[in-house]
Amino acid sequence: MCGIVGYIGNNNAYDILIKGLHRLEYRGYDSAGVAIVSPEGQLNVYKSMGKVSNLEAYCKDKNKEGVIGIAHTRWATHGEPSDCNAHPHFSEDGNIALVHNGTIENYKVLKEALLQHGCRFHSDTDTEVLVQLIEYIRLTNNCSLLDAVREALKEVVGAYAIAVIEKNNPDQIIAARKSSPLVVGIGEDEMFLASDATPIVEYTDNVVYVKDEEIAVIRRGEPLKLVNLENQEAEIDVKKLKVSISELEKGGYDHFMLKEIFEQPRTLTDCIRGRVVEDGRRVLINGVSDNKEKFINAHRIIIVACGTSWHAALLGKYLIQDMCRIPVEVEYASEFRYSNPVLTSNDVVIAISQSGETADTLAAIQIAKKMGAFVYGISNVVGSSIPRETHSGTYIHVGPEIGVASTKAFTGQVMVLTMVALAIAELKGTMTQEQIAELGKVITKIPDLVSQTLKLNDKIKHLSLIYTYARNFLYLGRGYSYPVALEGALKLKEISYIHAEGYPAAEMKHGPIALIDAEMPTVIIAPNDHLYEKIVNNVQQVKARHGSVIAIVTEGDTEIRNMADHVLEVPEVPECLTPIITSIPLQLLSYYIAINKGKNVDMPRNLAKSVTVE
Ligand code: M6R
Repeated sequence: MCGIVGYIGNNNAYDILIKGLHRLEYRGYDSAGVAIVSPEGQLNVYKSMGKVSNLEAYCKDKNKEGVIGIAHTRWATHGEPSDCNAHPHFSEDGNIALVHNGTIENYKVLKEALLQHGCRFHSDTDTEVLVQLIEYIRLTNNCSLLDAVREALKEVVGAYAIAVIEKNNPDQIIAARKSSPLVVGIGEDEMFLASDATPIVEYTDNVVYVKDEEIAVIRRGEPLKLVNLENQEAEIDVKKLKVSISELEKGGYDHFMLKEIFEQPRTLTDCIRGRVVEDGRRVLINGVSDNKEKFINAHRIIIVACGTSWHAALLGKYLIQDMCRIPVEVEYASEFRYSNPVLTSNDVVIAISQSGETADTLAAIQIAKKMGAFVYGISNVVGSSIPRETHSGTYIHVGPEIGVASTKAFTGQVMVLTMVALAIAELKGTMTQEQIAELGKVITKIPDLVSQTLKLNDKIKHLSLIYTYARNFLYLGRGYSYPVALEGALKLKEISYIHAEGYPAAEMKHGPIALIDAEMPTVIIAPNDHLYEKIVNNVQQVKARHGSVIAIVTEGDTEIRNMADHVLEVPEVPECLTPIITSIPLQLLSYYIAINKGKNVDMPRNLAKSVTVE
């Protein structure tokens, strides 16, 4: 939540900062701002409510000259979205400007103390407290900006990634992080900083991921320096970025979400590359084989995640239980962290997070580690916090997901969970080589089968017109299709703002059936699996109450075809692989309904891609 960008070098900072904000807009888009020190030594701060484009319009006639600056795109936590609550915030004397991603939990106490000292505040934010505190320390102790930032951060409880500049010293940016991400890019005679690498990638591929409680001292003409809060220097570990610019652009599609839906054949190929080998006969997951004792001896696996990743986690439960015969529990990370969990060193905790930065998932990992469990991460963003916090793990390798609604990350997560389950099953001997090879072979065909499924696009586009103005939707599925129903409902509600509920199909008769009437469409995920006959009953129950049914069925289905109002046929795959296929039409359906309603599918209201606050 919130994105920060910074630049120091010889080029026009404004252009680089604005471009960076556009790249980070997925992290928050209710207001944006920029602070630049002009060649005349002015600290020019411009802020505007709404998207980055509003800020650009606002800045049109302003003085944007300068070769050092910081910028911010906001997802409001403290104080409503408004010009004055937008970042950067600046100090009373106008010397210091600061941008912040995170939350200062003890801001009220700090604010009270600063008010006693005569400070005045102009916003409702927690962030302004931090910049006033830095200024107060700077003036009281007559110290450098670095020392003032160090001292101020010692007072802070909460999460932060910050960047600070000052008018009187236009040759340095001080940046720091704790629990919110921060990357520094090292170019030729210039340096960049950002919440993730996407604003940096077109200028340099040399990056340093700043660690918790480290402060980056970025000075013109000097190498990057990292210090801790006690001013002790830390090692600089320069990494090479592997992201290409084309992955960050829409590539001819109207929206990132549509591009990401259509990318899935390729992203799934990347996800399985080098992992399902020898024509499917072997499944190699290094994180599992390197820790085989942990998995073989696990008494229990607990999967923690949020949102879409939690739906993937539910599928992980079915996969691991079916293939490895290990009991699996699935927990919302936000509940797990406060549930006084019982864990032992015989437990394996799997944390799933596309962004690798979700605050609740990170907190759950820390608790699990403290209690002695082995923690395995499944993430997409290389170098993000979760892969660094976990003992081991697997990247899904689906490339940057920019659309706020998760699509290709979900199928990547499910694919990785499938491969992890097969790898554990091989180690434990709970599946035969033949069974593994049979599934492995189909896995290698999944990208093609997803391509085939995407041919439903036009049919779904047409179908979406019929349901654009439905006010509620019910999604039903059983077994492996139940998490798919949850995910389909989440996709629809987050981008079209239509109320949608996912349910295990058999639960319908215990309550939701009361909702069914001619106005309530039901999406039923009914591939040809061992629960097919059961779900046929649910279709009948909905039809008997005049509800309309959109059914996702396996090619060649006749029974449901004769009952449902609309059928979307998908290729046949073994039951455990159906979620990757059946989730595709649901992604498209939610996309087109949202488009018909004129919604911004890539940046739905109130949401942000990376949830780094509680
Ligand atoms: O980055 P994470 O996978 O940890 O994010 C978890 C959720 O915030 C995320 O999946 C969210 O539910 C998506 N917007 C769903 O499309």
